[in-house]
Amino acid sequence: MEKFLRKKKDLAITGGFAKWYDKNSREHRRGELAAYAREIAGSIQDGAAVLEVAPGPGYVSIELAKLGDFHITGIELSADFVEICKANARRENAAVDFVQGNVSAMPFAPERFDYLFCSAAFKNFHDPAQALREMHRVLKPGGKGLIIDMNKDTTTAARKAEVDAMNLSGFERLFMAFSFATFLRDGAYRKGDFAEMLAASPFRDWRIAEHGVSLSVYLQK
Ligand SMILES: C[S@@+](CC[C@H](N)C(=O)[O-])C[C@H]1O[C@@H](n2cnc3c(N)ncnc32)[C@H](O)[C@@H]1O
Repeated sequence: MEKFLRKKKDLAITGGFAKWYDKNSREHRRGELAAYAREIAGSIQDGAAVLEVAPGPGYVSIELAKLGDFHITGIELSADFVEICKANARRENAAVDFVQGNVSAMPFAPERFDYLFCSAAFKNFHDPAQALREMHRVLKPGGKGLIIDMNKDTTTAARKAEVDAMNLSGFERLFMAFSFATFLRDGAYRKGDFAEMLAASPFRDWRIAEHGVSLSVYLQK
C-alpha cells in the first residue's frame, strides 16, 4: 500500500492552531461530536473498553464518558492536544485516559479494546495501511471500529451545508469554506481508496457509508 503513503510526516496539530481548533470544536462542532458519541454508545455495552484515535481536543471521548460506564482511552500525536484534552476532561468531570502516541505504533497490548473510533484524522496519517494494521491489532476479536473522515468526492452543496451547520461568521466562515474546498479535500480519500486499503488490511468485515461531506467506515474484527 505504498501508493497511499503520505509524503509528509504525520501531521500533528500544535500551538496556536491547536488552541483555535479546540475553541472552534467547542463552540461550533459540539453537536456533531456529541452525535458521534451517541452513535458509539449505541454500539457498545457498559464496561466496554473504547479507544479514540487522534481525538484532537477530546470532545467525542468526553461526551461518551457522560453516556455510560465505559473505560475510554484517547491516543493523540500532539503533546499540546493531550494537555488540552486533559484540561477539557477535568473541566467537564469526564474520566478519559488521554495519552500521547502515534497510531502507527500504539503502546497498547493486542486485543485490548472492544471499540475504536477515529474522526477527521485518518487522512492525516503518514502510513494509513500501518494505521489499519494497528487498529486491527488492538481490537478484541469481534471488536468494532468506526472511522469517519472527509470524502474526496464531496459536492459543493454538501460542503456548503457542512459549513452552514457550524454557524460561523466572517473570516472563520470563509476560512472553513476555503479549507473544505482546498487542502482538506485534496488530502481526503475516496470511497474506492478506503475499499482498496481495507482489502489489503487484516480487516475482513467492513462497510463504507457516504453522508454529507464524510465517509463512515464501519469495521469489525
Ligand atoms: C483534524 S484533527 C481531528 C481531531 C478530532 N478527531 C476531531 O474530529 O475534531 C486530526 C488529529 O490527528 C492527530 N494526528 C495526526 N497524525 C496522527 C498520528 N499518526 N497518530 C495520532 N494522532 C495523529 C492530529 O494531531 C490532530 O489532533
